[in-house]
Amino acid sequence: MKRILSGMQPTYQLHLGNYLGALKNWVDLQNAEPENENLYCVVDMHAITVPNDKLNLEQATREIAAAYIAAGIDPKKSAIFPQSAVGDLHAQLMWLLATMTQIGKLNRMTQFKDKAGKNAEKAGLGLYAYPVLMAADILIYNATHVPVGEDQKQHLELARDIASTFNHRFDKEFFTLPEPMIMGAATRVMSLRDGTQKMSKSAESDMSRINLTDTPEMIADKIKRAKTDPNPLPDTVEGLEGRPEAANLITIYAAMNNQTKEQVIAEFAGKQFSEFKPKLSDLTVEKIAPITARMRELLADVSEIDAILKDGAEKARSVAEPILTEVKDIMGFWRG
Ligand code: TYM
Repeated sequence: MKRILSGMQPTYQLHLGNYLGALKNWVDLQNAEPENENLYCVVDMHAITVPNDKLNLEQATREIAAAYIAAGIDPKKSAIFPQSAVGDLHAQLMWLLATMTQIGKLNRMTQFKDKAGKNAEKAGLGLYAYPVLMAADILIYNATHVPVGEDQKQHLELARDIASTFNHRFDKEFFTLPEPMIMGAATRVMSLRDGTQKMSKSAESDMSRINLTDTPEMIADKIKRAKTDPNPLPDTVEGLEGRPEAANLITIYAAMNNQTKEQVIAEFAGKQFSEFKPKLSDLTVEKIAPITARMRELLADVSEIDAILKDGAEKARSVAEPILTEVKDIMGFWRG
């Protein structure tokens, strides 16, 4: 049995990268391996590491939970909960782990460098310490597997590193080293405007991403206007090299349709984008529109979401509490 944990930040709306790189894989895993224990967190304490006046944290948390449920995370099979509802435990473990995290390793975190930009001196301590909280999110449950997109790989490596430092220091194989699961065809979905940049919530142009809340018309328009190159689609996957935009659209199609890139290429070899794009657009709408519709329904009356989050938080707490107690025992804290 695996104990699976993952999370998303309630910062802006979720996009196709979040869906194909993470959420869709969570759903596939939940359904393919019913014996697993699944914990899906809305990481609201991470969302406050970059100041954002416009963010309504409570609403954004419900929206992410609604997206999880609408995409197929079943609250009967998976705990869905806000990180802050178990925040006392996550934050306490974070402090303990912070004492065994090397600054040199935090200095190498690319996400911090990207988010802090040129103004790193003015960035908050929370943004810098973010990967330690993420390690605590995982280790507080002693999770065995963490399904994420490729951009989280470095954070996962740090979490494994911290777990292993703890085990060494206290000479006990207490923490399982969590395995990253970077799954499916689309581990890194790129911007629709520039195939060399990651599709992201924070990119300025909304045309660069497909949001889970976009209407079918918006999806069609964004795909129609997505950047491409003048050549027809190649007849091998190798032919996508040096063609980042074409590679990205093929990758999206493959992931959405549960196919390999080879299968998609076999179908569209030699075709023009004018032929491929409407097919991609229809497929995207077919998969995303029902999720969007279900999200709207769920958000129209938040009582169901709130009940699910409350239940999920209770479940999460029941797993985390004994683990934190044991960590403190191992470290030698007074117990009374
Ligand atoms: P976040 O909120 O940025 O993204 C949520 C998930 O979506 C994936 N993702 C992508 N996958 C493919 N292509 C993309 N363009 C793309 N953009 C985002 C991310 O890899 C992620 O899986 N640090 C995490 C949140 C977190 C977490 C955790 C995750 C906090 N604690 C513990 C796992 C376990 C983050 O910022 O994800």
